[in-house]
Amino acid sequence: MSGSSEKELRAAICVGYLKDEKTAVTELIGSLSIDQTDRQKIVDTAAELVEELRRLDDPGVMETFLSEYGLTTEEGVALMCLAEALLRVPDDITIDALISDKIAPADWSKHLGHSSSPLVNASTWGLMLTGKVVHPVDANDWDIVGQLRKVVKRIGEPVIRKAVGQSMKVLGHQFVLGRDIREAMDRARGAEKKGYTYSYDMLGEGARTAYDAQRYFMAYAKAISSLSENCKNDDIRANPGISVKLSALHPRYEYIQRQRVMDELVPRLSSLVFQAKNANMGFNIDAEEADRLDLSLDIIEAVLSNPDLKGWDGFGVVVQAYGPRAGYVLDWLYALSTRLDRKIMVRLVKGAYWDSEIKLSQVNGYESYPVFTRKASTDVSYLACAQKLFSMTDRIYPQFATHNAHTVSAVLHMAKDNAHFEFQRLHGMGDGLHDLVKATHKNRCRIYAPVGIHEDLLAYLVRRLLENGVNSSFVNQVLDVNVPAKDVVRDPVTALLSYSSIENTFIPLPRDLYDGDRPNSLGINYANPSTLAEFYGARAEFQTARWQAAPIVGGEKQSGPSRQLANPALHSDIVGVCIDASKVQAALAIKTAVAAEDIWRDTAVDTRADMLDRIADLYEANRVELIALLSRE
Ligand code: FAD
Ligand code: 2OP
Repeated sequence: MSGSSEKELRAAICVGYLKDEKTAVTELIGSLSIDQTDRQKIVDTAAELVEELRRLDDPGVMETFLSEYGLTTEEGVALMCLAEALLRVPDDITIDALISDKIAPADWSKHLGHSSSPLVNASTWGLMLTGKVVHPVDANDWDIVGQLRKVVKRIGEPVIRKAVGQSMKVLGHQFVLGRDIREAMDRARGAEKKGYTYSYDMLGEGARTAYDAQRYFMAYAKAISSLSENCKNDDIRANPGISVKLSALHPRYEYIQRQRVMDELVPRLSSLVFQAKNANMGFNIDAEEADRLDLSLDIIEAVLSNPDLKGWDGFGVVVQAYGPRAGYVLDWLYALSTRLDRKIMVRLVKGAYWDSEIKLSQVNGYESYPVFTRKASTDVSYLACAQKLFSMTDRIYPQFATHNAHTVSAVLHMAKDNAHFEFQRLHGMGDGLHDLVKATHKNRCRIYAPVGIHEDLLAYLVRRLLENGVNSSFVNQVLDVNVPAKDVVRDPVTALLSYSSIENTFIPLPRDLYDGDRPNSLGINYANPSTLAEFYGARAEFQTARWQAAPIVGGEKQSGPSRQLANPALHSDIVGVCIDASKVQAALAIKTAVAAEDIWRDTAVDTRADMLDRIADLYEANRVELIALLSRE
């Protein structure tokens, strides 16, 4: 939609929120200018990369770990559950029960000695011993295990707890560069010597209180100040950068609180942005859940519009290809930076919140999903967005964040001679792949490095485990010799066209969750400005309405003395009048109900169920009025 106004593009973003996947993906495939021959070349190069990676002694810790413990093994699932739950469990008794539940039943010994990685083997040993201690072993067990078991049993459960906690910390440590910014900067030196740059991410997100937000703000401010010492280059692309999550900076970072967020978060963010600008450092705003997107664009526009930012090219935005809005967001960013005469950075990612997006849309009963349901749709969207970014390099410095050899190979193919871009990878992932690519192409590559304490790692760690645990993930499959290299890097366009349906038929639309039994209840997506405006429009007539409430007995409305009801938050807002049931009316109601008991009992279950369905349907049909009444009363 190049040439459209910013306003039109924002409207297109709203329309695209829950856009149907088939339409979106068909358009994306149509927009790609790589033909069948190009696509084959991309696959061939990617397959060579996979073969090379498989020949390396140390292809990457995460890749090695996942080739042993994916979500397809019982042990892998146990590990993910444990990692997810352990940090949230407050007391020792529950921790012991959790360990016993998750560790004991799995067969850890079958993983022993499989892997060439000492870390993976050490984890296996730890988990195996814990499993044996928690579960009685039989007499045939290897003696050393028996001996150790005796020792551990003697010392008791605190040791097991500690051991499992430690295993999880080891796992977490793979993803964290340092406990604080100084430690992280020290640990970064090795990769920096190899030509890598960093973007530091201070762990912490989803602030629950103003105090949390203040703490995270201070952590960012301190990190920028420490990092500024290392921003010695005039070319901002060669300096370290910082990645910020807006949800860390405000406890009510949600569309429905838009005005408050604009008043409070914009100045807070601006002060960090100016700190980065003064250090000639890249400042990147991470993309989070889909319901934050529109609000984030308002914030980005407000902050970037400050005329004092002119001449600084370090403002960065993340765009998630797994959502149908991605392309429109790129068009809007381009239009905005052109109007403001700025150069910005855009990191293209696939998106890290896929599981939550699917679940939330189902819980909220949206008409569709804000993310694609096929992995190949996301991959195609990534390619279409990458192609778009290469046509915008006069304003945008593209940063391609991926650990997938196919995606890397496609980006290199599209880049041709254009060197104005960089790759990015997460700390602890994709090391081998990016070392190989960098050695050949001499491209820039930045590592996203989480910094912080174990307690703040949980949400990030869970995203990494979920995204890599599934067997459609590249990192999960790359070292699995049972999957031929060419299949690991299959062309996503070919994959999509081979499906009988573009949408994933295993993931029904949120409305159809109950398999035709009954429709899921319909929710309102308040995070979409156009939906919210529609809701406010429909609600307007109920904002001044006055209701009358009276007891209904035997189908007849009763009369009696009435009293006025006011909105408890605004006493001048009269909600209506209410007739309370008198003792006589209450007695009559009970008598009528008792008399109806036999008829109700003899009524067929289906008929009774239909009545409940009808009530539910009526609530849904009149939901705007009901919401207005409930909130005013
Ligand atoms: P691949 O294995 O090729 O892709 C995995 C991805 O495919 C999943 O993460 C998901 O996005 C998508 N996917 C999986 N299953 C399906 C399905 N059934 N239907 C549709 N799509 C599916 N993510 C953010 O959200 N915000 C950020 O700010 C952010 N910053 C990042 C910064 C860097 C430097 C890097 C490297 C990553 C960042 N990420 C961010 C995380 C990123 O989204 C994931 O790491 C990335 O999706 C993994 O993609 P891949 O190409 O490495 O792997
Ligand atoms: C995440 O926090 C990397 O921003 C990405 O999952």
